[in-house]
Amino acid sequence: MKIKSIGAIIGAGMLVAAVGLFGCTSNEASSASSAEEEAATEDLVVLNGGKLTIAASLDFPPFENLEDGQAVGFEVDLMKALAEKMGLEADYLPSTKFDTIVPMISAGGKADVGVSGFTVTEDRKKEIDFTDVICDSNQGIVVMKDSGYTNVDELAGKKIGAQSGTTGYDWAVENIEGAEVIPFDEMTAVFAALQSGQIDAIASDLPVVQYYVKNAYTDMDIIAEIPTGEQYAIVVSKDNPALTQALNDAIAEVKADGTYDAIYEKWFGASAE
Ligand code: ARG
Repeated sequence: MKIKSIGAIIGAGMLVAAVGLFGCTSNEASSASSAEEEAATEDLVVLNGGKLTIAASLDFPPFENLEDGQAVGFEVDLMKALAEKMGLEADYLPSTKFDTIVPMISAGGKADVGVSGFTVTEDRKKEIDFTDVICDSNQGIVVMKDSGYTNVDELAGKKIGAQSGTTGYDWAVENIEGAEVIPFDEMTAVFAALQSGQIDAIASDLPVVQYYVKNAYTDMDIIAEIPTGEQYAIVVSKDNPALTQALNDAIAEVKADGTYDAIYEKWFGASAE
């Protein structure tokens, strides 16, 4: 497998470099680290040889969205870069219902990772492993401009729409007094429901509602930004710690070599406006 041979090359290279620099004195340390490299890479198993198979709910721009049938977005570019560092090709499955992704990864057999603006939560950690953090986020509350709502308190007892299984759904249940919180499968359905008057407000991740309001639903307004301090990470099966490790190594690499910053700038920088 390609991954394995890359590990062997890195391992051998490190050994040569270490011997060259420090001579015999560092033999122990260098053979240990090359053995570690071997262990980390040899155990790495992916479902479909040469590919990193990714499950995502492709309704979450600018993180992941469908454009002309293709997955596009910040996390899509990031996953392509991480896969490349690992000698793999990023392969997106057809859009997958958000609240089925964690159970799917935990059950195994369909995708190697779930990447969908997944907030790290203690509950999810019981079922799956998260990689290191790839992005920060918060919540935002959206209403129709002509609704007259100006703050969250006025939404007490109202109908709040949110994507099923999300932190936005939980936030609304816990924080909006007496609200009826209605779950929807897709973000697009949540926005359609607000526009048609089926719900009074939306609770979802701030960067995503900002994107939707700016680019599609200009008749809506964000009346509150809630500093929940959420952090996104990649979802991996607990049975595949070598994959989590390899992804963490790749995340560190793209952060160190400027790739991460370039992708961030493309989707969130001044030129993305
Ligand atoms: N960050 C939120 C969560 O983890 C929402 C993610 C929704 N993602 C999506 N691709 N629709 O629950």
